[in-house]
Amino acid sequence: MSKFARIIGTGSYLPPKIVTNHDLEKILDTSDEWIVARTGIKERRRVTDETTCDLATIASNNALEAAGINASELDLIILATTTPDKIFPATATILQNAIGASCPAFDLQSVCSGFIYALTTAEQFIKTGAANKVLVVGSETLSRIVDWKDRSTAILFGDGAGAVVLSGDEETGILHSKLFSDGSYLSSLQVSNNYINETGYIEMAGNEVFKIAVNRLSSLAEETLKECNMSTDELDWMVPHQANIRIISAVAKRIKTPMEKVVVTLNKHGNTSAASIPLALDVAVRDGRIKKGDNLLFEGIGGGFSWGSALVQF
Ligand code: ACO
Repeated sequence: MSKFARIIGTGSYLPPKIVTNHDLEKILDTSDEWIVARTGIKERRRVTDETTCDLATIASNNALEAAGINASELDLIILATTTPDKIFPATATILQNAIGASCPAFDLQSVCSGFIYALTTAEQFIKTGAANKVLVVGSETLSRIVDWKDRSTAILFGDGAGAVVLSGDEETGILHSKLFSDGSYLSSLQVSNNYINETGYIEMAGNEVFKIAVNRLSSLAEETLKECNMSTDELDWMVPHQANIRIISAVAKRIKTPMEKVVVTLNKHGNTSAASIPLALDVAVRDGRIKKGDNLLFEGIGGGFSWGSALVQF
């Protein structure tokens, strides 16, 4: 049993194919100017023949290397994804085999809040003593469920993967986390199929999602800091789900955090759903912005709606 679950290594991976806004101008009635002004996105990645597990495998190996541990030392793997390779088996088990681990592995589906849900679940295993070293991954190939003829959604999403290794720690780690769901918003954001025998695409009431995201994430950030007795000044970095720069900056403004303390990657990644927070985290760790001991606020919201936050001492 450990007091905290601490992040001891991060990793990420993006497929090499870049789709710029100018590329989208050629297939949709849209413009780089509109997309940048309304979302902040300039480009995103798209898989060609890579699977969700392929992306997760490279991100996971990078995280294991950063943590300085071997896959055989893992006690548990949790993979957050909305775009699994197959209906079954769980993509997490394909990942387990690919990285050479032998521990239990399962998928967790909570769309854009998937990483926060997976992190919080892993934390419970560590705090109860059921596991000590846990790999938490967010990996998505959302381009497979985007309707490339729908300009209101096709511009938003990207493919990628991010991973963290958690380890039991007596000193510090995840300080606080909060999870929420409200299933009454089904029709605001969903995939339009019955899963078994139809191909479905993302359907979204963008304006409604936007307003709810700003309201819920702003209140959540305030509550999370308050419940941890932490002032905004003590927060070193906000690492939010990367959906829209206007959502991110509205939340930062509400908690009086300057944008210089917010990690933003959506200009290059788009919205990678469950992968967006661990991807942004890894970018900022590897470029030296996030350092050991920094206080980080993760938060995200997505389909369901489901949303959540985690305050982490890195
Ligand atoms: N290019 C040009 N024009 C467009 C495009 C486009 N790609 N998409 C929509 N438009 C048009 C609309 O048709 C509309 O035209 P009209 O006024 O003639 O009817 C106009 O632009 C305004 O449309 P709105 O939907 O009101 O635009 P809005 O400013 O709300 O921006 C957007 C749309 C970017 C989708 C925004 O609502 C948003 O980001 N919402 C959050 C959704 C989100 O991020 N979802 C991801 C999953 S949940 C999550 O991660 C939080």
